[in-house]
This record gives sequence, structure tokens and C-alpha cells, in this order.
Amino acid sequence: MSKPLILVTGKNGQLGWELSQLAAAYHSFDFVFLGRTELDLSDNLSIQTCIEKYRPAYCINCAAYTAVDKAETEQAMAYQVNAAATGAMADACRKLNATLITISTDYVFNGNGTKPYPVNEPTDPVNYYGYSKRAGEQLALTNNPATIIIRTSWVFSSHGNNFVKTMIRLMKDRESLNVVADQTGSPTYAHDLAAAIIQIIQQLEAGNKHYGIFHFSNAGITNWCDFAKAIATEAQLACNVKGITTAEYPTPAKRPAYSVMDTGKISKDYGIVMREWKEALHDCIHLLQSENKS
Ligand SMILES: NC(=O)c1ccc[n+]([C@@H]2O[C@H](COP(=O)([O-])OP(=O)(O)OC[C@H]3O[C@@H](n4cnc5c(N)ncnc54)[C@H](OP(=O)(O)O)[C@@H]3O)[C@@H](O)[C@H]2O)c1
Repeated sequence: MSKPLILVTGKNGQLGWELSQLAAAYHSFDFVFLGRTELDLSDNLSIQTCIEKYRPAYCINCAAYTAVDKAETEQAMAYQVNAAATGAMADACRKLNATLITISTDYVFNGNGTKPYPVNEPTDPVNYYGYSKRAGEQLALTNNPATIIIRTSWVFSSHGNNFVKTMIRLMKDRESLNVVADQTGSPTYAHDLAAAIIQIIQQLEAGNKHYGIFHFSNAGITNWCDFAKAIATEAQLACNVKGITTAEYPTPAKRPAYSVMDTGKISKDYGIVMREWKEALHDCIHLLQSENKS
């Protein structure tokens, strides 16, 4: 009997790459990993054609327009990749009875909250990136009832571009750094999210099926400044990290002040257990150092 095929988009991004590193350990599935050259999400027709060609049982959409500030001025492209393409993928999956797992963001929330957002908290994005990701959620849920949306936050990995790698690079060159201290959230190690997604697919295969919106981040709450301090400690870099306000560091896109998500539903429905972000950060930096990437 043939194995279920898992099609992964965005293979060169943080999450897509982490999935590609895990794939070899899961012998009960076949995987196909696609990057922008194999599947360009700016073209809805090629999404349809590609999914019809591979006929996957599961599609994990890790590709996205993730340049939060640039999205303010490149709105049409951000909408196409994050919303229209996600909708087209959901449609193509429904026609094959395939499950779509697509990733969304904590930036669908306005940031005015003071306690972790449950999955049914009303959304109210404060920037275009968040708006386009929310539109993608809505289109995916409308076009395919067998859709799982996983909202995540503050993603880091040893691969790709992220806050951890940027901080390490800057801390090596500078004696001090100013980092925003009034935005609160939960970091997520892309490796841990990748493992959780595979665990969810194993559960779906076993007949434990729950669709809709889920939240996933590592456990624990921090702000960018304390996150940077933890990176300096973990990487043993003697850089003085000073907290500043968002008002002192203006960016083209507004960020939510508070974007911590309640991850209870993914634990309840799929038995996913999250470890503390500091523990995950330790593993990521250890990997960077052992691979001489930092
Ligand atoms: N990074 C975060 O902090 C964060 C926070 C919350 C949610 N998320 C969500 O988590 C998911 C994974 O994020 P990530 O951090 O792994 O993102 P990432 O590292 O920025 O990777 C995104 C990937 O999408 C690909 N892509 C962009 N436009 C494309 C197009 N038109 N056609 C095909 N591929 C395209 C990029 O390809 P190239 O390599 O060719 O550019 C890149 O490999 C995304 O849905 C993101 O919105 C991320």
C-alpha cells in the first residue's frame, strides 16, 4: 500500500526547512518539498496544477509573505501570497479530499489584550501583514472544511532569517544594543512547531480529527528586550542590552503590544505539549554554534 504523501510549500523558509530535517525520521509518510522555483504562490493556477499533479493526502503550507514592514507598501503581493494563494490551496485540497495545514500569526490580534488570546478571540489586525494572514485563514476555512490553521508567534530557527540570528550578529559587533521592551509575546522554535505538525498528522491518520483554528508557541511569556538578553546569555556574548519603547523605535508597520496566545486547544485536541522557550532557545543556539553558523 502506498504511503500518505505530505506536500510542503516554502521549503527554504524556517518552518519548511525544519520539516525537511525531520522528514527522514517518519517512514510511514512520503514527503515532497517545494520552494518558490517549484511552486510560485503568486500564481493561483499553478497551485491548482501542482496539487493535482502530486495528489497529496496532506498539504502543509509554510510559504508566506513574511516581510511585515514591506507588506505595508507591497499590499497586492502580500494579499496574493498570504490570502489568495492559501484560498486556492484549500480549494485544490478539497477537490482531492486532502487536509490543508496552513500557518497563521499572532499578528491577527490588535494587541490590546492582557491575558493569552483563546482561538475564538475576535481578530483585529493592526498591520497589513496581519490583515492578509487573517484573510488567508478565512478563505482556507471557507474553501476546505478539512483545514487546520495553526497561528504561531515570534518564530526562530538555526536556519533562515530571524530575531535570534540577527541579535547574535549585532551583539558580536556592538557593545550595547537598544531593544523594544514594551511588546509582549511568546517565542516559537520552528523545530518544535514542525514536530507538532507531524504529530498532528499522525493523529489525523489514527482517526483523531479536529479542524479549525489552533495556537502554537513555546511556553512562557517575554518581551523582545528580555528575549535579546536571554540570547546574549545563552550565546555568551558580552553585549549590554537596554530596553526602549516602541515609540522610540518607529517602524512602517504597527505591532501589537500584547500577542500571547492561549495554546490550550492544540494540547487538548492533539495532546501537544510545549516546552519553555528558553529551553528551545538553548537547543537552537547550541546547534548554531556546533554548525559554526553563529
Ligand atoms: N517568522 C515569524 O516570526 C512568524 C510569526 C508568526 C507567524 N509566522 C508564519 O509562520 C509561517 C512560516 O514562517 P517562516 O518564519 O518559516 O517564514 P520564512 O522563513 O520567511 O519563509 C517563508 C517562505 O515563503 C516563501 N515564499 C514567499 N513568497 C513566495 C511565493 N510567492 N511563492 C512561493 N514561496 C514564497 C519564501 O521563499 P524564498 O525563500 O524564495 O523567499 C520563504 O522560503 C508563515 O505562514 C508565517 O506567516 C511566522
